[in-house]
Amino acid sequence: MGKSVNIAVVGSGYVGLVAAVCFAEMGHQVTCVDNDPRKVAALQGGDTLIHEEHLPELLNRYRNTKVTFTTDLGSAAENAAAIFIAVGTPQSETGDADLSYVEAVACEIARHLTSYKVIVEKSTVPVYTNEWIRRSIERNGIDRKMFDVVSNPEFLREGSAVGDFLHPDRIVVGADSERAAQVLQDIYAPLTDGSYYKQANIIPGPFSADAPPPLLLTSTKSAEIIKHASNAFLALKISFINAVSNLCEATDANVQQVAQGMGLDSRIGPRFLRPGIGYGGSCFPKDVAAFRSVADQMGVDFSLLTEVERINATQKKRFLAKVRAALWTLRGKKLGVLGLAFKGDTDDIRDSPAIEMVQMLLAEGCSVCAFDPAAVERTKAVLPESDKVSYSTDAYAAAEDADALLILTDWAEFGKLDMKKLRTALRYPIMIDGRNMFEPATVAAAGLTYYSVGRPAAHPGRAEANA
Ligand code: UDX
Repeated sequence: MGKSVNIAVVGSGYVGLVAAVCFAEMGHQVTCVDNDPRKVAALQGGDTLIHEEHLPELLNRYRNTKVTFTTDLGSAAENAAAIFIAVGTPQSETGDADLSYVEAVACEIARHLTSYKVIVEKSTVPVYTNEWIRRSIERNGIDRKMFDVVSNPEFLREGSAVGDFLHPDRIVVGADSERAAQVLQDIYAPLTDGSYYKQANIIPGPFSADAPPPLLLTSTKSAEIIKHASNAFLALKISFINAVSNLCEATDANVQQVAQGMGLDSRIGPRFLRPGIGYGGSCFPKDVAAFRSVADQMGVDFSLLTEVERINATQKKRFLAKVRAALWTLRGKKLGVLGLAFKGDTDDIRDSPAIEMVQMLLAEGCSVCAFDPAAVERTKAVLPESDKVSYSTDAYAAAEDADALLILTDWAEFGKLDMKKLRTALRYPIMIDGRNMFEPATVAAAGLTYYSVGRPAAHPGRAEANA
């Protein structure tokens, strides 16, 4: 593979840690910096900190050799040709991204700048952050010729982050200087020239040596906007199909058929057209709000984004109404809940629509027994066990003696559940599925009344109507 570049990655959260091990996998020498000494010690000692496919094997391969962990930003920065900033940009009260961590890192880097460096924004940041980073470094007395600031947004999804990093649909490099663009092109060369994919034991994915991923060179501002616009567009696609699913419910149409019919149009595409209880997670809600706020500040009317958010919030209320309609009244009802994470294959519960649903049901006087394959421990910190909240170690136990079973997260393993066994466990044979995990006729054939999103309800003993 091409030449090895010395890289510092600041922040060992989701994006930082994944980027660090993937850069090592691409042949680079990486120092991962975090200001939390406990995190650094845990990573040095073999902990992976997050639940992510392929991360343990890559960490085992490169820990303390091609990837080292430290709290010392100064020496990491001094030795690196490129410094990636991958710290958190949480949502502030106004909806803006809080950039105080980014600023603090920029100032710290400035204190250790002794030779030319490329400073790379990897965190999701609003347009103009690049300029702010540049200004704050200059304010610390550093000559403009000593550094460049580049925007290189990351598009990885939780659950498939390592695969996404090494098989990216596109690599976006926003650089306003040729020198800086070249450093980033060198870093990504193993992917863009295909040499990474020629090796044995690579992380599998769609790209190959003959068909490597593209690298798009843009201005820094365009790159910053690409990240927010992409996430906002995906959120819009989800809200759109959720609104269509509501129309399907009102007309007895089937949203699955509608989404299939729309998705076959190559201009639309089939992905991100799954209706449900709304999008969540650490990115979409925060990024849509931040993008809306950027538009507001620039005096641009982007009220479409407000509508995307409104539909997303309404989707949870509609699901609550569906539970109420199925059970008549909610107070005192015992519900089995499958899924707490914001989506399947992750233990992440940040902004999880499933947890919000549970909180809404508790506020209505229900009690809940919940199961999730990975997120129970994290959920206990938010929803402690009580006489209203309990947790089970498998799906069937969550259904035991419940008035209905609710599906709130799309874990693939839920799709394999034995319907007859669930039917036996439940007190009343009712399933309300917020993620459309099953074929309605299959559930009804097992003796359960089945409500889902945007599809007609299915009832046992009515095979023709359920087809
Ligand atoms: C997202 C983006 O996909 C990724 O490119 C970006 O870098 C970070 O944000 P992630 O938050 O990991 O990734 O999850 P994603 O798989 O995109 O799902 C986000 C939310 O949308 C989840 O709550 C999911 O359940 C929901 N979703 C997704 C739907 O409701 N319907 C869909 O069709 C797709």
